[in-house]
This record gives sequence, structure tokens and C-alpha cells, in this order.
Amino acid sequence: MKNRFFIIAMIAMLALSVVGLSANAQAEDDTIVIGANIYSFADNFMNGVMKPELERYAAERGVEIEIADSEGQQDKLNAQVDIYMTKKVDVLVINLVDPAAAGTIIAKAKAAGIPLVLFNKEATEANIMNSSDAVWFVGTDSAESGIIQGQMMVNDWNANPDWDMNGDGTVQYVMLKGEPGHPDAEARTRESVKAFVDAGIAVEQLAQEADPNWSTQHGNDKMAAWLTSAFGNNIELVICNNDGMAFGAITAMKAAGVRLPIYGVDALAQALTHVADGELDGTVLNDGVNQARASIDLAINAAMGNEVTEGTDWILQTNGSKAVRVPYVAVTPANYEDFR
Ligand code: GAL
Ligand code: CA
Repeated sequence: MKNRFFIIAMIAMLALSVVGLSANAQAEDDTIVIGANIYSFADNFMNGVMKPELERYAAERGVEIEIADSEGQQDKLNAQVDIYMTKKVDVLVINLVDPAAAGTIIAKAKAAGIPLVLFNKEATEANIMNSSDAVWFVGTDSAESGIIQGQMMVNDWNANPDWDMNGDGTVQYVMLKGEPGHPDAEARTRESVKAFVDAGIAVEQLAQEADPNWSTQHGNDKMAAWLTSAFGNNIELVICNNDGMAFGAITAMKAAGVRLPIYGVDALAQALTHVADGELDGTVLNDGVNQARASIDLAINAAMGNEVTEGTDWILQTNGSKAVRVPYVAVTPANYEDFR
């Protein structure tokens, strides 16, 4: 009798210690590792808003994240993804350099059996999101930013008759576009101008320039050149598809001693300061904080084999884009303080 009890007790203890051991081993093994990148650390919005929140929120969620700088080169990103696959990361969170190169990354991830969350630059190849069951997108509805920016500009144009400097009833504008082929750049360029046309206001584009890096330097160089060009005195409006380029244009205007109506997108901290100082007429909040959080939440669920939005409030579009889209918000001199 005594012996039997002893043996049972021993077995129970052994079983407990085995469970304890394996639970420990699993705890270490189970830390989810995210392999991520940013298309360029030189980008104001990506590096200033998205990267810090990806890092902060990953830590809050108890996962590891490594973020590589792709330095504006798709080849570099492809190689970084190869390294992440060798390291056997649990999930990839990728900011394409070239939005037309999604297929390459999706194929790599699929072959390695690693789930993939694309963010910020939406794939442009048709149906490419359906080439794998384990790929999703987190970003925005690109057109929405242009529509909001356009509406803001139309309202201000109507409220300020003196903005039509030559009195011809037409908006003579210049456009800083950003990256050609980037869905955000293309949609903003189209929609902001369309808002005037839809409101029955004629438009005339005096100049447009593109820049794959959306940079402040580019905004400064182009604006400075435009101001001293033959049409320099005819510019009535400066449309910038992001704040970074607007910062450069503002600097160029100050240097030339002019203050033309100017609008951006992103609502970076510096943009809010320019609004406060009366140097920027409006911007559109590009909510990188929530885009970063959604990217991490989807990635963790994907790594755990869950439905990607499980336990979250994110809404996944079921129209083939497999996208979570975070809304844009208008930022004007009347409400900018709410965003500081
Ligand atoms: C846009 C943003 C730009 C730039 C770009 C990079 O959404 O407005 O400022 O960061 O993403 O892909
Ligand atoms: Ca005019």
C-alpha cells in the first residue's frame, strides 16, 4: 500500500516537473519575432512617425521586432527579406520600396511559409494580393487624403477672393507630387485638383515635379526654382502631397519673401508648428500611429495562426485588397491644436 502511494506520488511529481520544463522552454521559444523594414529612414513620416510606433507598440505587445533601412532600393529590400527568411522570423512586416514589386516579396514569403503584412505602400499589380493566403495590407484609402485636402483648399479659396491674384477665376497652382507610381501620390494628385473642378472652379497647373523620396530638399529646390521662373509671379497655390516637401517649399518662400497658400499631408509635428505660425494653411492627418499598431496586431495574429483581426477592432476589407485602412483627418488652423 505504502509503496503504491510512493510510486504514484513520484509519477505525479515527475509529470509536473516535465510540464513545468516544457512550459518554460515554450515560453522562450514562443516570443514572436517580426522581420520588418522601412523603405527609407530618410523619409520624414516613415522614420518620424511609423518607425518609433512600430518599435514602441511591439514592445508593448511583448514581441521582438527588427527594422531594416532599405535606403530607397528594392534590391536591398529583397536581400533583407532573404536574410529574415534565413533567420526564420515568425512574420514579415514590409514597407515596399517599389509598390510594383509586391509580387516578388509575396512569392518569397509564400515559398518560405512566412506570413506577410505589407504596410504604407499598397501593391499596384492587379490581383497580386490573392496570390497568397498569408498576405495582408495595412494603410489608408489613398484617395481620401486628396479629397480632404481638396475640400479644405476649395473652402479657403472661396473664403479668400484675393487668393485669385490675377482675378481670372482660375486657380494657377504648382504641385509637389512625391513618388511617381505610389498609390498615395497618384490619388492625391488626382483628387485634390478634382475637388476644385467638382466645385466648378477652373484650374491651371503651372508646374508639377515628382520625387521618389518625398523630401524636404526636393520641395525647397523646386519651389525656389519655380519662384524665379517665368511664371513665378503667377503662382496662387502650392499643393504638396506630403508635409516633408511642404517644409522645403515654405523655406523657399520665406527666402524669397513671399507667402503663397500652401497645403500638405501627414500632419507631422513640424507641420502643426507651421500652421501655428501661419506658414501652412492646412494638412491631413496620416495616422501612422494607428497604421503601425494595426500592422503589429495583424502580424502577431498571423504568426499565431489566428484570423488576423482576432481580438482587435481593425476591419479587414473583404473586396480582394485584404486591407485594413486607417482614416485620414483634416487639419486646419481651426483644429490643429487637437493634434499636437
Ligand atoms: C505616404 C506619406 C509620405 C511618405 C510615403 C512613403 O503615406 O504621406 O509622406 O511617407 O507615405 O511611402
Ligand atoms: Ca487666378
